[in-house]
Amino acid sequence: MAQAQTIPLTRHPFADGSFKQMLIDGKWVDAASGKRFESRNPATGELLATVAEGDAEDIERAVAAARRAFEGPWSRFKPYERQLVLLKLADLVERHFDELSTLDTLDMGAPIARTRGTRQRVLGMLRYYAGKATSLHGETIENSLPGDIFSYTLKEPVGVVGAIIPWNGPLGASVWKIGPALATGCTVVLKPAEEAPLAALRLGELAMEAGVPPGVVNVVPGYGETAGAALAAHPGVDKVAFTGSHLTGQSIVKASAGNLKRVSLELGGKSPDIVFADADLEAAVPGAAMAVFANSGQICSAGTRLFVERRVYDEFVGRVADFGKGLRVGNGLDPETQIGPLVSEQQLDRVTGYLNLGRQEGARALAGGERLTEGPLGRGYFVPPTVFSDVRDDMRIAQEEIFGPVISAISFEDTDDLVTRANATMFGLGSGVWTRDVSKAHRFAKAIRAGSVWVNCYQAMDPAVPFGGYKMSGYGRESGQQHLEEYLNVKAVWIKTG
Ligand code: NAI
Ligand code: MG
Repeated sequence: MAQAQTIPLTRHPFADGSFKQMLIDGKWVDAASGKRFESRNPATGELLATVAEGDAEDIERAVAAARRAFEGPWSRFKPYERQLVLLKLADLVERHFDELSTLDTLDMGAPIARTRGTRQRVLGMLRYYAGKATSLHGETIENSLPGDIFSYTLKEPVGVVGAIIPWNGPLGASVWKIGPALATGCTVVLKPAEEAPLAALRLGELAMEAGVPPGVVNVVPGYGETAGAALAAHPGVDKVAFTGSHLTGQSIVKASAGNLKRVSLELGGKSPDIVFADADLEAAVPGAAMAVFANSGQICSAGTRLFVERRVYDEFVGRVADFGKGLRVGNGLDPETQIGPLVSEQQLDRVTGYLNLGRQEGARALAGGERLTEGPLGRGYFVPPTVFSDVRDDMRIAQEEIFGPVISAISFEDTDDLVTRANATMFGLGSGVWTRDVSKAHRFAKAIRAGSVWVNCYQAMDPAVPFGGYKMSGYGRESGQQHLEEYLNVKAVWIKTG
């Protein structure tokens, strides 16, 4: 494996080691408790910022501000005016994109080539939701009641949205929650992950600059068990939009019961990626490898269960392992880096735990398999691309979400029971099929129980195309028209005439 050169921290204007306050009601304020926590670069351990640590009291203030804004100034914004605010925000994000993407690289470790590469997606999302602001509409519906009684529907914003996001793509995740909220006329309390809160705070600053009235976008960093839990349980929150682990998703659903708030959940996965012998293997090798290694495997829809047809299994899995060994692991600030560190010591422990478990279960590591400890990489949380061969369906490394750069390669012969095997997971988020046979592609696209099926590609995403889970990967969809509906209430109006 090639090792990228480690680059010293270049001082970032928003990650210069200073203190960052939280955004409530259009003002930058300390936590009510006065507490702070640190945000560090997972590649080097360097301090990026100390951050105001929100808890229940700050959530209380932020929800109250979001309610006032929802009922007050924001409710008077016409769709076209909300559209203009979103377009202005998109322009600001575009102008500051290098700064924002570098911030994500510093805060959570992803290679700069990757964070810069999200440019079109992030800007596309903001402009897509801006477009939607002026195309929301109810319906007139013909009813069958006697007499003259007219019925139609109104689409109204659901209200105050609590957005709880993870650390694996902080800028994109923030935009994915704020975009539909602003388009529909909702207000937001955004709780970024404690591991990587900086991009959300900077986005809050840009939202204010774009002309969002005070209280429409609030950003309260803090820990999940305190700030996150308070937001999920708050009776003044109308909807929680959550992205993260299925375990936290379950506690959010429980916490939501107090006021029966609406919940949408984008949770984890253990997605099957199926390679048939008739596939274009030249394309499938890098495709299947990067379906897992991208972002060091810290992607909810990563294709971590790699099913390969028996007669090409040894060759294919060997080539994926060689591809993994050729990837450059290093500090995300180096433009040549392809694989950055894991986000935190906790994630490192979790992933190395699975590396040990895989060996104990009898799997063979053809690439990687151990944390990197030599040289400057030893100071960060680096795990190289890992390929486990000889994996059986019932092994824990084939069933549990690892959230690291780890492929569990499984062989198959009989395509009849392949669908059953591919679906034998509690999750249902992503899936892949590599084949030149169109009939096979359609058959599997239909049979796989997952929210996305990628054929001869992986991880394609677009703001207009819905994304979300089946089974324990959650419910609700992000992107596409359905995403907007999740932020809207439908009201039926009956008018008797004559
Ligand atoms: P997590 O689900 O605990 O954290 C995600 C967000 O939820 C963070 O903002 C966190 O502060 C918040 N949170 C945590 N506990 C909460 C609670 N009780 N109430 C309300 N909010 C709460 O995920 P974590 O601990 O960062 O990672 C653990 C595992 O979860 C990973 O190894 C991975 O398997 C999975 N995960 C999946 C993600 C996805 O994109 N689907 C993203 C992050 C993690
Ligand atoms: Mg957690």
